[in-house]
Amino acid sequence: MWSIGQIGTFLSVAAVATASYGNRPGYVSRIPFAAPYDQSFLEGYSVLKHIGGLGPYSNRMSFGIGRDPPDACTVDQVIMIRRHGERYPQSSDAESVEATLEKLYGSGIDTWKGDLTFLNWWTYYVDDEGLYGLETETGPYNGLLTTYKHGAEYRVRYGHLWDQDSGKKIPMWTSEYERVIQTARKFGEGFFGWNYTDTVALNVISESEIMGANSLTPECPGDNDTAICDSLSQDLPAFRMAADRLNTQNPGLDLNSTDVFELMFMSVFELNVRGYSDWINAFTLDEWKWFGYTQDLDFYYCAGPGDPYYKAVGSVYANASLTLLIQGPEEAQTIYFNFAHDTNITPILAALGIASPHEDLPLDKIPFPSSYEIGNIMPMGGHLTLERMKCNATAATEEGIYVRAVLNEAVVPFNDCQEGPGFSCSLAHYTKMLNNKLPDFVSECKLNSTVPQYLDFWWNYNTSSAYNHQGTAYIPYQGDGWA
Ligand SMILES: *[C@@H]1O[C@H](CO)[C@@H](O)[C@H](O)[C@H]1NC(C)=O
Ligand SMILES: *[C@@H]1O[C@H](CO)[C@@H](O)[C@H](O)[C@H]1NC(C)=O
Ligand SMILES: *[C@@H]1O[C@H](CO)[C@@H](O)[C@H](O)[C@H]1NC(C)=O
Ligand SMILES: *[C@@H]1O[C@H](CO)[C@@H](O)[C@H](O)[C@H]1NC(C)=O
Ligand SMILES: *[C@@H]1O[C@H](CO)[C@@H](O)[C@H](O)[C@H]1NC(C)=O
Ligand SMILES: *[C@@H]1O[C@H](CO)[C@@H](O)[C@H](O)[C@H]1NC(C)=O
Ligand SMILES: *[C@@H]1O[C@H](CO)[C@@H](O)[C@H](O)[C@H]1NC(C)=O
Repeated sequence: MWSIGQIGTFLSVAAVATASYGNRPGYVSRIPFAAPYDQSFLEGYSVLKHIGGLGPYSNRMSFGIGRDPPDACTVDQVIMIRRHGERYPQSSDAESVEATLEKLYGSGIDTWKGDLTFLNWWTYYVDDEGLYGLETETGPYNGLLTTYKHGAEYRVRYGHLWDQDSGKKIPMWTSEYERVIQTARKFGEGFFGWNYTDTVALNVISESEIMGANSLTPECPGDNDTAICDSLSQDLPAFRMAADRLNTQNPGLDLNSTDVFELMFMSVFELNVRGYSDWINAFTLDEWKWFGYTQDLDFYYCAGPGDPYYKAVGSVYANASLTLLIQGPEEAQTIYFNFAHDTNITPILAALGIASPHEDLPLDKIPFPSSYEIGNIMPMGGHLTLERMKCNATAATEEGIYVRAVLNEAVVPFNDCQEGPGFSCSLAHYTKMLNNKLPDFVSECKLNSTVPQYLDFWWNYNTSSAYNHQGTAYIPYQGDGWA
């Protein structure tokens, strides 16, 4: 069976088969010239893995489970929630970044030296304040491009779930925030191609609290930041050392650890805009490791499993998507594409028990290995894809319906349910598991009875295409409430 996941394997087999050894006509050796299996495994060294959720998308490091459905199975329903694509810094972050740049240039240095030599020609990459908070549109990692490509790749993977001849409208759902809406549109154009305009009905769901549980961005009304969240500091030894190095190379410069953090933060977004940043090389990989950890801590304690209400928030989507999986393509649709923010998706992971550490993250050291690396969980464009699989019987498994979770294109089995084909979980077991462990959003968050008590928009949706494109229905950027 031919499928995308097998292209890599196919190419290396072909390379092996054509490598000839000796001169005997007709004899093709099995001994390859080049090592067919990569021995370098460099992804841990990639800066993309150490910049938290701020920089370009990268696939999750896999467990080695095949991405395609196992031989006996076909996907008959897909439910995805995706974060917006690569973006500019938020305007709320811009203030401290710009203050640090002013401090740098205010040092009066004429000729930059050492690791900062590039400052002799470098310029800041945001030349219009209006760009803050928006998707990027230049460079190889730009948010609009990567989102379109993701849509086109999913067309290859899930195109069989779109019955073009039916002429049916396909609803998609996005939270009401400009960059998220732009993401939904670009993804839709990628997936549906030039049928997008007439085929899709983009439903825009308000992010307001009055939506209660009928929301892609639900919140616990009384959920305050934890004390640890408020006490997190960027004054780390690694950043003090970096400041000292740059100051020594450039007499007159007086950077401190906070400034180093701000400069690293700023440079990550340069990748989203330009694809390349000289700043990345001004810091060591170990310093980037620490930078990544500041992002893990920030997420964990401020918007992650360290927040006691987090699972309850994620249970809204986990519960409603369970209903879709049980209904299946017979009673529900086959395709559910949804778009929101990073901190709307991480609660869902917690509710499902994916990427949830057993112990709180330490503040004074980095745990090795760590199961909570945001760069591996929710980069820009990060997404959780639930696949419903219809499987024939195999020698080891029964015929039936199975569920798999795919996080950033890596299959992530459930620890307490992986007996199905391809480490999947039978729908019956999945249902039991969620019914046992999902907290009740309404009671845990003391939801006001005047607002919607459950998610309903997947069943009651609008079939209008009015919001498919930016036009009279233009929705403005709404400030910095989310990331
Ligand atoms: C499952 O079995 C049916 C009946 O033999 C066959 O038509 C179908 O292609 C099989 N599905 C897969 C994914 O192999
Ligand atoms: C998509 O476009 C193709 C080519 O015009 C057409 O055959 C097909 O019916 C369209 N599908 C839908 C759902 O509009
Ligand atoms: C959040 O803080 C406010 C004000 O300090 C307090 O009244 C409220 O009870 C807190 N909520 C929770 C859930 O702790
Ligand atoms: C670094 O300097 C800035 C002002 O330039 C200041 O706001 C910040 O608190 C300083 N950080 C540390 C750790 O001293
Ligand atoms: C779970 O979802 C179903 C259907 O969407 C809904 O009727 C039910 O109220 C939800 N349960 C909870 C606890 O939210
Ligand atoms: C619930 O909402 C109503 C209407 O907005 C409001 O009057 C009431 O004070 C709210 N109750 C609580 C407990 O927040
Ligand atoms: C669907 O969207 C259209 C266009 O925005 C709007 O006029 C209509 O009222 C909406 N219908 C429902 C049921 O929300």
